[in-house]
Parts: sequence; C-alpha cells; structure tokens
Amino acid sequence: MQSPSDRRRLPLFAPHGGGRSAMTCAFRCGNACSHPVPNTSENPYLGDLIAQAVSRRSLLRSGVVVSAAVGAAGIFAAPAVAGDVESPAGSAHRNRAPKGLDFDVVAPNRDDKVTIPKGYEQHVVIAWGDPVLKGAPKFDADAQTAAAQAKQFGYNNDYVALLPHPKSRRKRVLVVNHEYTDEPLMFPGYDGAAPTREQVEIAWAAHGLTVIAVDENSRTGALVPDVKDKLNRRITVSTPFTVTGPAAGSDLLKTSADRKGTKVLGTLNNCAGGTTPWGTVLSGEENFNQYFANAANVTDPTVQARLARYGFVGEASQRRWEEFDPRFDLVQEPNEPNRHGWIVEVDPNDPDWAPRKRTALGRFKHEGANVRLSRDGRAVAYMGDDERFDYLYKFVSDKKMKTGSGKKARDHNRTLLDEGTLYVAKFTGDSPAEEIDGTGKLPKDGKFDGSGEWIKLAKGKKSYVPGMTADEVYVFTRLAGDKVGATKLDRPEDVETSPKSGKLYIALTNNTARGTGSNPGADEMNPRNENKHGHVIELTEKHDDPTALKFGWNVLLVCGDPEDEGTYFGGFPKDQVSPISCPDNVAFDPYGNLWISTDGNALGTNDGLFAVPLEGSNRGQVKQFLTVPIGAETCGPVVEERHVLVAAQHPGELEGASFENPLSEWPDGPGSIPRPAVVNVTRKGFGRIGR
Ligand code: FEO
Ligand code: CA
Ligand code: CA
Repeated sequence: MQSPSDRRRLPLFAPHGGGRSAMTCAFRCGNACSHPVPNTSENPYLGDLIAQAVSRRSLLRSGVVVSAAVGAAGIFAAPAVAGDVESPAGSAHRNRAPKGLDFDVVAPNRDDKVTIPKGYEQHVVIAWGDPVLKGAPKFDADAQTAAAQAKQFGYNNDYVALLPHPKSRRKRVLVVNHEYTDEPLMFPGYDGAAPTREQVEIAWAAHGLTVIAVDENSRTGALVPDVKDKLNRRITVSTPFTVTGPAAGSDLLKTSADRKGTKVLGTLNNCAGGTTPWGTVLSGEENFNQYFANAANVTDPTVQARLARYGFVGEASQRRWEEFDPRFDLVQEPNEPNRHGWIVEVDPNDPDWAPRKRTALGRFKHEGANVRLSRDGRAVAYMGDDERFDYLYKFVSDKKMKTGSGKKARDHNRTLLDEGTLYVAKFTGDSPAEEIDGTGKLPKDGKFDGSGEWIKLAKGKKSYVPGMTADEVYVFTRLAGDKVGATKLDRPEDVETSPKSGKLYIALTNNTARGTGSNPGADEMNPRNENKHGHVIELTEKHDDPTALKFGWNVLLVCGDPEDEGTYFGGFPKDQVSPISCPDNVAFDPYGNLWISTDGNALGTNDGLFAVPLEGSNRGQVKQFLTVPIGAETCGPVVEERHVLVAAQHPGELEGASFENPLSEWPDGPGSIPRPAVVNVTRKGFGRIGR
C-alpha cells in the first residue's frame, strides 16, 4: 500500500506539452488534446482565395515592426510600456497612455501570488468552500461534506459577473461559474480508482454556479459577501433545469428519468459566460463529454459517430461518477449526454425561476455566449466551440427585447433565446494561399484578413442542413457545421462585442495540432502551424449590423514572445508590448479597450490579465495588468471603472501536486492547500482603474 510519503513523490499524471499541466488536461477537459482531433470532417476551406475583404485596412505602416534584434526584452522583463511610449508611426511626439490604460506593466513571473501594478490593492472576495448560504459551515479541508459544499462556494471559479443589486445601492450581485473539480487537490488521500460516495457528491455540489450578494465599500471598493441575502444561491449537478427552445421534448433528449425530455438535473463544466442586456447570465457547458463513461462500449455506429465528434472516449470516466449515478453511463442512459453541452440561462434576480437550457443556441463545447442587440432590438448571441478545429456560431432572435425591468418585460425577455436562427461562420482569406507559410509571416498585403459569411443551420423546427432534421442540428450542431463547410478555427473560446465599436473579438487559444499529421495546415484565419500561443480575430459585421449574413475580419494579435518573428501586435512596435500566450476570456473596459485573460501560458510563466487598446496609435499595445498564482489560470475578467475582478482558477495545479503535497499555498498562506478564488483589484483610494 502506498504511504503518504510515497504519494508525495509520485507524479500523478504524465507531463503534457504546451503550457498546461497534465492535471489540468485530465480534470478540465478530459485530456482533449491527447485524443485524436474530433473534427475529421472533409470541409477544408476551399473558398475564393481572392475574395474582396469587406473592410480593408491600409498596408502595414512602415517602420512599425521592430526587428527581434533591436532591444527586445526577455520574457521575464517588463517591456517599456509603462505610461508614455514612442508613437508607432515614428513621429517625434510621445503618446499618452490611452484612457484607462495608464498603469505600470506587471512583469511575467512564476510567483505564488497575484501580482498587480504599483498603487493598486487586492482582496480575495470569496474562495472555494466559503459560505454562500445561511447555515453553511466555515471551510474545513479535513471535514468536507456534500451537505456543506452545497451551501458553500464551489470549486474552480471561471466566469464572473458583477451586477447591480435589485434592492440595494450598497450591494452588488456576484455570479460565478464553477467549471470543474480537481479531486487530488481537494481531498486528503484521494484514490482516483476508488472515489468514495461522499467525495463524488462533494464534487457534484462543487460544480455549477454561485449567486451571492456582496456589500461594496464606497470608500475602499472592498466587496464582502453577505451570506444572509435572499438572492444567494448555489446551482449544482443536482439542480433541476428546464429545457426550452425547438429541441425541448425531442426523442434525443428523453431518458428513463425524464420521459418528456424537458427536465435535466444539473449543469456541467460551466466555463465562460455573458450577461444579457436584460440582466440574466448565460453560462457555457463546455467539456461535458469527460463525465460520461463507456463510449467504447456503444455499438450503434450512428451513436458512435456522434459520440466521437464530441470527444467521448473510453470506458471508466476520470471521476467515476457512473458508479454512483447510472445516468453517467452511456450504455445505460444513451441520451443523457445529449442533455449537456448547452448554453444555460440563469436569472440572478429571481431565485425561483428554474435555470434554462437553451436548445436554439445549439449543442457543442460551449465556451460561453455574449449578446449584442441589433438596432431593432433583436438579441444576437455569439458563441465559440472550444475544440481544436471547431467553429464560431451566432444565434439571432426573432423577437425584440422589451426595455424596462418590470415583470412583463422580464418575462418576455427571458424567452428571447428560444426562437430564432442559428448560424455558423465561414471565413475567407483575401491573400493567395501560398503567401500563408504557417510561420506567422504576414502576406504581401500586410494583414491576415478577409471576408466571411454566416451560414444558416436551423430556424425553429426548420433545418437548413441537408440530411439532418432540426432536432439533429440542435443536438449534434458540430455535425451540422461539418456538413455546411464551416471554418475550422484554433479553439474559439470567448467571443465578445466591443460596446464602443460593435466589432467582435474572438479569442483563439491555441492549436498545436494545426498543420501536423493529417490535420489541416495554416490558413489566413489560423496563420501558424503548431500554434502554441493562439491569436485574436477582430470581426466586423456588414454595415455594423449583427444580424448581417456577411462580415469582414482581420487578425488583431498573433500571440507569443514578441521576440518571435511570427507574432503580431496589431502593428504596434513589438519591443513595447507584454508577451502574451493563450488568450482565453475577453472583456471590455468602459473606454472600449480590450482585456484578455490567458489560459496555459506556453511561455513558461504564470497566466495573467492583459489590456490592449483597439483604436488610435496605441492599437495593439498589449500591457500586462496582473498575474495569477503559480499553476492557476486567469478567468472571469470583469473590468469596471473602479474594479478589476478575476477568478484565479486551479492554483497549484501542477505536476506532482496533491492534497498532501500542495504546490501552491494561495490564498491562505503557509501550510494551507490552494483554493480557487475571486480577486477584487482596486486602485488605492478606490480611484479609477488606469487613469
Ligand atoms: Fe473552459 Fe475553453 O476554457
Ligand atoms: Ca490578407
Ligand atoms: Ca475559458
């Protein structure tokens, strides 16, 4: 038998490539990158290579790109971007930092703490195990129970929303996703081959979402949870959800526990999200496949093909939940997995309203969803499917949003995402294919850019995909995208529209399989083979109309070490930007600057939060605002005039880490196990961020 000291020495997981730890790969996404790429469809991009870009920008400004040899900083040094910088056009005058971005850049590091700019303060708002509901016990790592966890803050916080409180100006409402559990770090003596029922039920209760009111100190900006507030709520793997939209009640969604196919227990792997203009929160069910066992024992070839396209593999699942609830066994309950992988909608102001699974928005590994309103008030939800070589989608509602916060408006607006049209994106580059050499070298026109179209998949009960019913399009949306020739992207994660310009920003985290084996090679939309560091695409809808069927696009950032010639920072001088790798979540500050959090920094330093101006001569000047503790990923970001909130997810999730051998002690300090937590960063005196 293994002694605790043996356990300390044994690495639990084999090392993986890239910036993520093997433990993150196993528990976050079921080792997605170790398995074959699920998209084997024959829809390589063969579009019109000389298509006119909708919105062509001028050629790269001369003198902008500084050669790697000219004074580029090593990755641990902060670049010379603190405050004023030389104009990228090379003129003699110096630019002031754009509004909201006047802060001292944080240097890359490997520290076990959150590092913020000089003159700023940080506080943990809430961490795993802290009380959310009345009667919740204080967190005790050695005395965890499922009953306690169901009233406490869940594990691995991801999306964060900070909303107004409907009843009090002194309060705010915090909504947080809990993406996944990390059992070896959570439980003493965890045996992955034989988890106990209590451990499994704690994990069920540690998934889902938290809604909690926080008091806001108007002098310091501190946010302190109010455990007594009536809005507080935990949503878990056991919470009833109502299935709505065109596929609700489909035979594909019926199980022995739900013969109508309209009620689902729980939500899984809630990653990013978005807050709707009507005040609800959308949350993406992402790597749901990993919770289901026995894909290898399914014999029906149609079902097998569907499972394979969603990455279901093997026999026992990583967490072995199937041993405690047969719905997680694909052989016993073949339709249960079809009930996960949706966008869910939660109304933080209405705890009695059952959360919804919105089938009209399609089923895939939803990173999240963000809504922009059309000029006539229709809701347009943009969504990424976070898998190598998967697609970008949008949904356009039929109905228009009603303004106001009265019951009538609220009841109406909470139906907007049930009726409308689902589209998938097809991108076309405007440079000749031979000019895209896969290194990140810009084509002759100086830009990775082009045009694109939104291809209709389904509207209500009508399918536009040959050979698929509407129900099949909604439930097996990836297969619908394959059939219509959607563009394979390098892991489309968070997508969000600038409230200032209306442009859409798409974070493509990475794709080290690009251009390897039989996988598709670089194209203008994904310009690097073995793309370790990811990129960011800027998309402009035709006539700035989010319901449009055509768009223009260009690559804003090709991430990585600025010394690497294959990187691109919107044309900004590369010796004056922070290194950035693996963009994941995006947000905007009140001035229209883009903020990007990273996941899996492949440059060897901690993940962080970065800001980048999108307009004017500072466009592309990436500046690092903070770093998260070692082993953690930066999630959530909320950027307001006076608050920056991030969720530090999976601190200490590193090779060899366990409960007995913690490799981070954040946030509680020496002798503690790490706890994922939400951090509130304010400027001293509660001043404006970056001003
Ligand atoms: Fe949960 Fe796509 O990150
Ligand atoms: Ca081009
Ligand atoms: Ca994410």
